[in-house]
Amino acid sequence: MEFSQEIKREFDQIVARYPQGRQKSGLLPILHRVQEEYGWLSTEAMNAVAGYLQLNPIEVYEVASFYTMFHLRPVGKYVLEVCRTGPCCLVGAETLLQYLQRKLNIGIGETTPDGLFTLKTVECLASCGTGPVLQIGPEYLYHEQLTEQKLDQLIDSLRSKS
Ligand code: FES
Repeated sequence: MEFSQEIKREFDQIVARYPQGRQKSGLLPILHRVQEEYGWLSTEAMNAVAGYLQLNPIEVYEVASFYTMFHLRPVGKYVLEVCRTGPCCLVGAETLLQYLQRKLNIGIGETTPDGLFTLKTVECLASCGTGPVLQIGPEYLYHEQLTEQKLDQLIDSLRSKS
């Protein structure tokens, strides 16, 4: 795959922030830009990034698969990311996660057939005192102290916006 001239210019600007020979330092912002453009990171897109940065493709896959903010398959309009780290689990995150799976009729990592919601789990969102916490992409706004009732309202309001 071939990136547009405009995107390549943006890549050039990103890489120019770093010393010569350290172009790999631009990998994260470049992956963010690619995801912003295409909605997710396909293998072809990651290979193209590797080619641009003169890296082995595996170096790009390693980074993209490490960070949960990168999507390695197509996602829905809203990405629901539930924190499943200890403090949130202590206040009911796992139960709410099961509730969300039943409500949306999808598993973790899946997208509803209407393309509206993708359900993911993430590690600590640094809001442990107000768990259970969910963030919703693409804006990644936090929703805290969640209950089943709050989740119902949230899903209804997102559905009504679409
Ligand atoms: S454990 Fe969930 S926000 Fe920290």
